[in-house]
Amino acid sequence: MPESHTDIDRKSLFLRACRAEPVERVPVWMMRQAGRYLPEYRAVRAKHSFLDVCKTPELAVEVSLQPYRLLGMDAVIVFSDILIPAEAMGLTVEFGDTGPVLPRQVRNGSDLAALRDFDPQRDTGFVGEAINQLCRALGSRVPVIGFAGAPWTLACYMIAGKSGSGTDRAKCMMYADPALLRALLDKIARNTARYLSAQIAAGAAAVQLFDTWAGELSRGDYREFALPAMQRVLDELQPGTTPVIYYSKASSHLLELLTETGADVLSVDWRLDLAQLKLALAARRGRAVAVQGNLDPTVLLGPAGTIRESVREAISKTGGRGHILNLGHGILPDTPVENARVFIESGQSAELPARAVSAL
Ligand code: CP3
Repeated sequence: MPESHTDIDRKSLFLRACRAEPVERVPVWMMRQAGRYLPEYRAVRAKHSFLDVCKTPELAVEVSLQPYRLLGMDAVIVFSDILIPAEAMGLTVEFGDTGPVLPRQVRNGSDLAALRDFDPQRDTGFVGEAINQLCRALGSRVPVIGFAGAPWTLACYMIAGKSGSGTDRAKCMMYADPALLRALLDKIARNTARYLSAQIAAGAAAVQLFDTWAGELSRGDYREFALPAMQRVLDELQPGTTPVIYYSKASSHLLELLTETGADVLSVDWRLDLAQLKLALAARRGRAVAVQGNLDPTVLLGPAGTIRESVREAISKTGGRGHILNLGHGILPDTPVENARVFIESGQSAELPARAVSAL
């Protein structure tokens, strides 16, 4: 861990950023920060399957800590996958070389009825245990982030059984049997709320919902299907206590609807201009909503100067207030570790624009 950062209360910094309160600098972490770009991760994976790493708290803790030890980011996300609850609900999940495969999908009412409401303590206790161990290893000054898939994105995997054509299949169900899709989303939402509550009870300082496929929906379809399920998760999580971060990809057209989810932080990709996002959020009365993002992960494949410039630009667009610096999607497996370091360090050393500092 870089020496200069050991004395910082990262949890306080992170939580203040989530609540859009004054900060000395922006907090920084990366989606998929524990993963294949790290030789240390590949060494663990050479000996253990992906699911074994997810389900063995000691291994999950080890790989969650690897990026923090090396790069000293401001938050540690627990190592797991959005498909763990799909398995807990009774589906088989396999991780091959081309991504996850669910050999038995949800296509009709009896498939839906066969999905069970799971008990996070009994069925996915390894996630809570990993969070608990991470909190003990990191102490009270580093935030641990828990996560789950957003209902729509998880439904896409449950309906299609694989990555590629997932949203086409899910949309087929939307048009052919909207009541079935609604019931599936509702069941996922109920289980997701309990799953995330258990992660919070285990010590997660914030939780993130990943909606990788949100952008595939039109505004009307998002409003009718994805939004009520998200609202159900958020309502059950008691807003205002633990910050909820909502990641949605390619979702510029959904902006006002994203704020209606009730999430505390909107995590967006590079297609959305952060200055415009901030303006749109400020124009909405009521609760402050913070932003997270949004560098294109391919920037981290390029020269260090471009990474620094992109970091500087992102922070200047938000003013550094209510901003958690991150990528717009997961870090790519072929990213040089040195470039990830440049990203983290330049974010942590960036001076905030004068207007943000004067608000301190
Ligand atoms: O951020 C972190 O470091 C925590 C770990 C994490 C993983 N998956 C580990 C993982 C998180 C937050 C996820 C979320 C996830 N999983 C999403 C949402 C975010 C996104 O990337 O869109 C989705 C859609 C999944 C489903 C999934 N899992 C896919 C499509 C794949 C295959 C593609 C890929 O990137 O490998 C996975 C496998 C997976 N999940 C890996 C990791 C580190 C690679 C598995 C390996 O080690 O071989």
